[in-house]
Amino acid sequence: MTTRLIFLTASVCVAGALAWQAVPAAMPAPGPMPDPLVMRDGTKVTTAAQWRDKRRPELLELFTREMYGVAPPRSSKLKFEVFDKGTEALGGKAIRKQVTVLLEGDPNGPKFDLLVYLPKAAKGPVPAILGINFWGNHTVSADPGIRLTASRVESSKNQYADLSCAQNGKATEACRGVNSPQWPLEEMMDRGYALATLYRGEVDPDTKDGFDMSLKRFYPALQGRGDNFSTIGEWAWALSRAMDYLVTDKAVDPKKVAVFGWSRLGKAAIWAAATDERFAAVISNDSGAGGAKLFHRGVAENVTRLNTSFPHWFDTNFRAYNDRDTALPFDQHEVMSLIAPRPLYVASAIDDKNADPEGEFEGAKGAEPVYRLLGAKVSLPEKWPAVDEPVGDDVAYHVRTGGHDVKPFDWARYLGFLDRKVK
Ligand code: GCU
Repeated sequence: MTTRLIFLTASVCVAGALAWQAVPAAMPAPGPMPDPLVMRDGTKVTTAAQWRDKRRPELLELFTREMYGVAPPRSSKLKFEVFDKGTEALGGKAIRKQVTVLLEGDPNGPKFDLLVYLPKAAKGPVPAILGINFWGNHTVSADPGIRLTASRVESSKNQYADLSCAQNGKATEACRGVNSPQWPLEEMMDRGYALATLYRGEVDPDTKDGFDMSLKRFYPALQGRGDNFSTIGEWAWALSRAMDYLVTDKAVDPKKVAVFGWSRLGKAAIWAAATDERFAAVISNDSGAGGAKLFHRGVAENVTRLNTSFPHWFDTNFRAYNDRDTALPFDQHEVMSLIAPRPLYVASAIDDKNADPEGEFEGAKGAEPVYRLLGAKVSLPEKWPAVDEPVGDDVAYHVRTGGHDVKPFDWARYLGFLDRKVK
């Protein structure tokens, strides 16, 4: 008890700006679930104006400081080098473009490649899906025209690829298309959607000691502080910079760009949409802890595990919450509230225990009061639905059969959702 008291007092005194490591003996008893519609000073939010002008900025500021960290502003020197200006691809179904996004306008500065497929049959600007991929742009399709990434590729974790696909940490021809089952490009083209994607490793190598290979290294002033530029924050920032390109491409309808992400990249998609209101909709596929699931349940991957196994993902202020999942002063339903009233699809897989599928449902459900206040249609059931039974309306959810992955079942639901809500 004494340890816990000292721990809490110390945390409060230094307002989280520390990597202070006195760990309490046990998780605190579950505290009340924070209410997105109650302001810091206790005032109840009852109007859309109050939400927009006061509560939303307050929550954005809180999550930026305590969890995701500060990202650099869009540079006035941002430039797009379109090195593949429109090549027929995917058996004639698509026009492929490839763009290097020069974040500071300098080829020697921070940059990443964006791969874009546009449905060739389109008569005008199309809706688009934007998402980060895990193993390289060349892994989403066997299309031989996709530029191989020069950045590091960790093949060992790719459940779809043979270990020899990447060699000495580099992409090879053998990796082309290995993850195509997760990216049904032809179906997207047939249904009139563009797909834009970038490789996570061009933004950040995603290892604890990967700072020198990350784009963060170009922004040293954002390090050495509690609200430092984090890797999840960096991926979300890259999604916004990819969006900066998409709004300039006349073939894309800038009001109809949905952001998609699986797993850690789902965590980034949620934060990208929370911080950038240009995203018209969000799809979170198995995003788990730090994504859609509620920490307060105290189930599955917790804050300590995130901060220990992936200390680069969140800012260092977040470490003050180790072992306090059940008593956090905030939780992930509030991050998703920041997306309201824009359509949100949260999906789980029943065997993805690490992500706490029921907790992902509870997270989505917890965002509904804000959606309701803003006039969106909400209809998630009170209880976690049965497997393979999609539910909801502007906030939608399903838990499918199987494990941590992106499956045809998922995409069939997402494309139907986008047809109804975005297209
Ligand atoms: C790990 C991690 C999860 C994450 C997942 C992924 O399993 O614990 O939080 O979502 O990796 O990104 O694949």
